[in-house]
Amino acid sequence: MEMIQTRNELIETARLRWITFSSSAESIDEGQEVIYGLKQRQKTLPCRYFYDDRGSELFEQICDLPEYYPTRTEQTILETYALEIAKSTGSCELVELGSGSSRKTRLLLEAYSQLNHQLHYCPIDVSAGILYSTAITLLHQYPTLRLCGLAGTYEQALAQLPAAELENRMLIFLGSTLGNLNEAECNQFLTLIQQALQPGEFFLLGVDLQKPVEIIEAAYNDAQGVTAEFNLNLLRHLNQRFQSNFDLDQFAHFAFYNSIEHQIEMHLKSLQTQTVNLQALNFQVTLQAGETIQTELSRKFHLPTLVTVLSDHALAPLQIWTDPQGWFGLLLCQRQCTTGECP
Ligand code: AVJ
Repeated sequence: MEMIQTRNELIETARLRWITFSSSAESIDEGQEVIYGLKQRQKTLPCRYFYDDRGSELFEQICDLPEYYPTRTEQTILETYALEIAKSTGSCELVELGSGSSRKTRLLLEAYSQLNHQLHYCPIDVSAGILYSTAITLLHQYPTLRLCGLAGTYEQALAQLPAAELENRMLIFLGSTLGNLNEAECNQFLTLIQQALQPGEFFLLGVDLQKPVEIIEAAYNDAQGVTAEFNLNLLRHLNQRFQSNFDLDQFAHFAFYNSIEHQIEMHLKSLQTQTVNLQALNFQVTLQAGETIQTELSRKFHLPTLVTVLSDHALAPLQIWTDPQGWFGLLLCQRQCTTGECP
């Protein structure tokens, strides 16, 4: 085993490469982001804080809830079309943003291996724990798989993707995580994707679509209260991370569909007037009784509009698949040449 130590950590073995992007500079900014959000008129907190170990576990539980249709629906679409995707792209390296447990990506790995393509997979996740255990499991399950784990944010990983070893590459972004970004953030993100891909390379995107409000609202207000626990866990995570004293009993889960913006909004409602101290940030915040902190946006997309937005970023949808009810969309896009880029 060869081990190289650089500014970012790099570990290499025969089939596993591992890169951890440094996070020290970032954690200072992180605190500022929290303070900034809590100073807004509509207070907000970054939804990234959902995903500590407990939060990732709760999210896995959400995916199995009867009301939470997105995971199941996307899984069905992938089961149906994975082989078609693999045939369309031919041999290519799979790079996945926010891979988590990689449960849906296995369907793609199966398809590429069925076509006897070499398996190269680069999962990217901020949660190094899940990333590593998934990597080890996959290496055992696929004896020829070569895996490059990137522990860091999307921005860090996309800016420093190792050169592809296969002739083509596909960036994968499933689960409608794109919906967490507002319109401006979404445009910035797609610019990063455009820059990370060479002309001819692929982008596979899964998005939740607009549908009757009752179905959407039920998915974020499940009967068992798992989503409520997931939402409140963000405060527990902050308490740990920033030595704050949010009292979880003094907040309530609140999620509704904003039909004008076509998005679910998740909030935590303060049950009384209270002041919270974030000791590590040297910052206090006062909440009025009934005031809310917005913790997440989850946009629901209109396919024709999304196609236009993607095309504006040189990402041309080659194929678009949905389920029979049209609840969820999977788009296979190809990076186009922009003016001056290609002969
Ligand atoms: C992982 C962001 C796609 O918005 O549906 C699930 C997260 N929040 N239930 C979503 C989530 C509440 C999920 N995404």
